[in-house]
Amino acid sequence: MEDVSAPDDRTRERILRFKKDFHQRILDQIDRRQSLNKYELKAQVESITEKIFAREELPPFLGVTKEQFKKETFDNVLGYGPLEDLLNDPTVDDIMVVGCNKVFAEKDGKLQLTNRCFLDEQHLRTVIDRMLRVIGKAVNDLNPYADGRLEDGSRINVVVPPLALDGPMITIRKFPSNPHTMEDLIHKFGSVTQGLADFLRIAVRNRKNILVSGGSGTGKTTLLNALGNYIPHDERIVTIEDTAELKLGQPHVARMETRQPNFEGKGVVSIRDLVRNALRMRPDRIIVGECRGGEAIDMLQAMNTGHDGSLTTVHANSPEDVLLRLETMCTMAGLDIPLASIRKQIAAAVDLIVQVGRFGDGTRRVIAVTEILESKADSYALQDLFLFQRELVREDGGIEGELKPTGKVPKSFESFVQEERDQLKEIFSSNKKVKAASAKVAAEKDASYKKAEASAETARPKKDVDKEAAKK
Ligand SMILES: Nc1ncnc2c1ncn2[C@@H]1O[C@H](COP(=O)(O)OP(=O)(O)OP(=O)(O)O)[C@@H](O)[C@H]1O
Ligand SMILES: [Mg+2]
Repeated sequence: MEDVSAPDDRTRERILRFKKDFHQRILDQIDRRQSLNKYELKAQVESITEKIFAREELPPFLGVTKEQFKKETFDNVLGYGPLEDLLNDPTVDDIMVVGCNKVFAEKDGKLQLTNRCFLDEQHLRTVIDRMLRVIGKAVNDLNPYADGRLEDGSRINVVVPPLALDGPMITIRKFPSNPHTMEDLIHKFGSVTQGLADFLRIAVRNRKNILVSGGSGTGKTTLLNALGNYIPHDERIVTIEDTAELKLGQPHVARMETRQPNFEGKGVVSIRDLVRNALRMRPDRIIVGECRGGEAIDMLQAMNTGHDGSLTTVHANSPEDVLLRLETMCTMAGLDIPLASIRKQIAAAVDLIVQVGRFGDGTRRVIAVTEILESKADSYALQDLFLFQRELVREDGGIEGELKPTGKVPKSFESFVQEERDQLKEIFSSNKKVKAASAKVAAEKDASYKKAEASAETARPKKDVDKEAAKK
């Protein structure tokens, strides 16, 4: 990504002034007497630009060819201005704008300031209006922020003054055309080890309830998606999201998205409404994009009453933090359930917490996998199964370390068939054995799964007995 300091400040100012004047000249010459469609407008801008170029040369300090300048002019007058190229660049994941002079982009996991800027605040507002108009939204004094999904599925959030203190702000999370798979997370990013992936696959297939936890932008949804793809193809999956991001490969996926209130504040459909509705849709699995409020209690109850194998994410910084957040979310449902009972439900419902984190060098990794054993009077009995061990901080800021099994074997997996228990033992016993175990697991997994399911039905581990109690 280009460095913001490439041209000196004075040159930058001259370039910006020239571009602004040019932009204004185009706007002044557009024929506004008739309403033009997109193509007519484009043709007009093209002809005005050509006429100017026929008479005038571009000043050398711009450092671009006429063709490049023409493209930029088109983007500014008709498109999304300096965001246009970033939106089209498949290597850019996130785009963030803070006022008209600061455009940040995340590329290869690293968030950087680009040398792009809007011509002025008015230009930024015009681009915002253009982006929101396509999705039937707008920001103004009465509604100074908006949330939505662009035509290509990207998530957009806009906040304008007076709420935004340094000028209008845009946050875009681009919709990946090919979301990262578990293979990518293992081999491309080193976020997950093969041993952990094998363990999670066995856990998902055996209907364990899993929460992915992490801070903002740490890769929760990406991991949730990868886990979701482990669900067997003969199951009915219901997904519930604020903005549809999940991309599952199974044939039977029923997708739902929440609805925001309209301009009169009516028509809202929340995650909680959709979770309740999902229970009437005969789901085998429920995947909720993110639990943020009262829906947590409905999710727990669903997990405890026959919809195990459900998956969701929670915004939290550690497995302990997840449990506190869940308690708070459950109380937000306003059902007046005693805390002790909420705690019991949480412990009975949630089997595993997978904690993800974003490191200073931009990498995102699983940093802990924790099993919830049971609730206690005022806390929970937890057991860490995997922990990331930081070994070295390189000179370039990169962090070296490894996600290692702690050696503890998960307790709530007693119901598994012997074969799977053996595989788990291998995974948890030593890192060296992990590789050999995973090759064996991969070959035998599918064949053994049906057998595993049948035997899991007959065994009733302590956690299942707890679930019965929580139901009551
Ligand atoms: N393990 C990973 N390695 C590298 N990049 C990743 C990884 N996981 C996710 N990403 C990228 O990081 C960005 C954020 O990912 P994701 O949407 O999954 O995060 P999130 O925690 O769900 O974010 P939010 O809190 O906004 O919901 C995306 O652009 C995604 O492609
Ligand atoms: Mg997310």
